[in-house]
Amino acid sequence: MLNTIGVIGLGVMGSNIALNMANKGEQVAVYNYTRDLTDKLLQKVEGQSLTPYYEIEEFVQALEKPRKIFLMVTAGNAIDSVIQSVVPFLEKGDVIMDGGNSHYKDTERRYDELKALGIGYLGIGISGGEVGALTGPSIMPGGDQEVYNKVAPILTKIAAQVNDTPCCTYIGPKGAGHFVKMVHNGIEYADMQLIAEAYTFLRKNIGLSVEEIATIFETWNQGELKSYLIEITAEILRKKDEITGLPLIDMILDKAGQKGTGKWTSLQSIDNGIPTSIITEALFARYISSLKEERIQAEAILSGPNYKQQNLDRDVWIEYVRQALYMGKICAYAQGFTQYKMTSELYEWRLPLKDIALIFRSGCIIRADFLNVISEAYQKQPSLNNLLIDPYFAEKSMDYQNGLRKIVCEGIQAGNAFPCLSASLTYYDSYRTGSSNANMLQAQRDYFGAHTYERIDAQGVFHTNW
Ligand code: 6PG
Repeated sequence: MLNTIGVIGLGVMGSNIALNMANKGEQVAVYNYTRDLTDKLLQKVEGQSLTPYYEIEEFVQALEKPRKIFLMVTAGNAIDSVIQSVVPFLEKGDVIMDGGNSHYKDTERRYDELKALGIGYLGIGISGGEVGALTGPSIMPGGDQEVYNKVAPILTKIAAQVNDTPCCTYIGPKGAGHFVKMVHNGIEYADMQLIAEAYTFLRKNIGLSVEEIATIFETWNQGELKSYLIEITAEILRKKDEITGLPLIDMILDKAGQKGTGKWTSLQSIDNGIPTSIITEALFARYISSLKEERIQAEAILSGPNYKQQNLDRDVWIEYVRQALYMGKICAYAQGFTQYKMTSELYEWRLPLKDIALIFRSGCIIRADFLNVISEAYQKQPSLNNLLIDPYFAEKSMDYQNGLRKIVCEGIQAGNAFPCLSASLTYYDSYRTGSSNANMLQAQRDYFGAHTYERIDAQGVFHTNW
């Protein structure tokens, strides 16, 4: 009996995707460049229809037509190598899907190369980590609609479900799926950094214990902040180090890694004139954290403010932190969805912003209750320029801005680095400022470079001999 789909790349994510497909009734062929991972996966199989192959030609010939091959291979040249190894055995109408974190420009190149051979190519963003891959990720497929239609029954079946609605929808042409995943990760960076800064204020400025902060996050996760990242932060703070018995968080070195998707998000926004200051500050925060040795050296040289921390009323300031965090989240998601909107117009992708928010409600790392509200905002106003001016988010921001101002001002006066909370406040204040100081920039540019300027009271461009 031929297999209905094949998976190449049996690392943790690939194995779990293959098991997910088999658990949902698919006949799954699996192949890995080295047989150890194939054999390791087979040990987990309990009756699911999952068949190993050790030669790529045998693997391809064991698939029903049109063949569907799902790649879960490390982004980069490895994907091109795997594609080159299977193409000789494929026929027109077959489909290759890339479920890794590939850069959308690479996806567009591969799409063009395979389209010329009559082979369909989908760049598919998969979010949810290893657990999500097994139990139901958020799935962001991009490419030709008719190619997507061939694999939609399988993808929608393995995706996370919200009220029997799959967290999987056709995103758009060519690299659109991987682009949406990339910005998802940019938002993820911002979300994570905002949480880290909120944690810092609770710990350092209010002076709460790790256990008290864990309880606060658990409480917040019952309200409008309900989300995966808030939930796991509470669990992280509950975890004790097995060696010392101390909170594990205090034993972890403060040097943050990153695989590149957040950087790609910032680069694409900078290339296209899209302000994503919060996402970019989250990226820079990771870069500065990697300068651990320098920071230790600088700490001995550079003192902070001579500031006596006032005794903060615990409950009042915990609520300020909650408001600051939620407003920071609103601003960060506003930037991410503005990047979707502006890029969609630039590339003529017609990204479905309402549906993107819907498929982020479960399965993915940034899953959160408030994505329902984001989706409703785009349902009501599909061409909404910015989430900040949606009635719900406008009212919430105007209500919570005081909390954000309190935390940013108190935190910065005390010498805390709050790059994303302060970037959120600056973004809010910049976006709502109708008359800004950019006229000074124009005057300076015209003074030294005769770059000309426009006037507020007349059409045309002007130059002054200063
Ligand atoms: C997801 C995650 C996943 C991966 C991140 C980690 O959506 O499932 O985002 O893609 O864990 O890419 O990214 P960094 O290593 O850059 O933090």
